[in-house]
Amino acid sequence: MIVVDQVSKQFKDKKQYVKAVDHISLNIQKGHVVGLIGENGAGKTTLLRMLSTLIEPDEGTIKLEGRNIFENKVQVRSRLGVLFGSETGLYNRLTARENLEYFGSLYSMSALDIKNQIDMLAKRFGMGKYLDRKVEGFSKGMKQKVAIARTLIHDPDIVLFDEPTTGLDITSSNIFREFINQYKNEGKTIVFSTHIMEEIAQLCENIIMMHKGEIVYEGALEELYEQENSRDLNYLFTSKVAGEGLYV
Ligand SMILES: Nc1ncnc2c1ncn2[C@@H]1O[C@H](COP(=O)(O)OP(=O)(O)OP(=O)(O)O)[C@@H](O)[C@H]1O
Ligand SMILES: [Mg+2]
Repeated sequence: MIVVDQVSKQFKDKKQYVKAVDHISLNIQKGHVVGLIGENGAGKTTLLRMLSTLIEPDEGTIKLEGRNIFENKVQVRSRLGVLFGSETGLYNRLTARENLEYFGSLYSMSALDIKNQIDMLAKRFGMGKYLDRKVEGFSKGMKQKVAIARTLIHDPDIVLFDEPTTGLDITSSNIFREFINQYKNEGKTIVFSTHIMEEIAQLCENIIMMHKGEIVYEGALEELYEQENSRDLNYLFTSKVAGEGLYV
């Protein structure tokens, strides 16, 4: 379980301080698929960057199985698969396979393990045809699939994705959805942000709704539906935000 306790993060933008995340607390249970939603600037990426140990909170703690994630970053990172939106992190001059091999080697995987993982991921994402082509000529969706595969090369048990389906066509988005369902069945923990409510409704049992750096709802999607007597996430989001008096 991941426990986020009273975490805040602010950035200095020119001479102004921007509170990106403001004293948030939440739990992410092992094996859950958690959707993170909120308007542009709500703090989603900032929260994901902190969960992935890339930036430290100014205040508060984040613990994984009771241990502060910033005190054993190396160990925590070996269990995490992280993908941030358009930053695919791929090397254009290398082929898809070479990219995957390279990232696998960063996790000290054996050549055989890397090969097996690449075979499995190429099959899963339908990348076989272009596995040995250089990434520079790839379409956005092809790159995104390789990037998703890259985050999974070391078989992480926690996956953090920031807007993973942005720019993907219907087929690739469906592959992503299928992947989430398969991964879920393997008991992996997945947290992803999206602006596509349909993805949340289809894939997540839990959601985190953020607004202006704060949490307006955190918990089971079904409970929210029951509480508010509606299954319309767009409506629910708007009413939660308005209900908290956060629209100013
Ligand atoms: N490195 C930074 N420097 C300055 N301000 C930042 C930085 N990172 C984030 N912020 C600010 O923090 C706030 C939250 O940003 P964040 O990127 O977390 O939002 P988001 O919910 O991911 O939005 P989006 O849906 O547009 O991706 C915004 O006001 C943003 O301008
Ligand atoms: Mg973002």
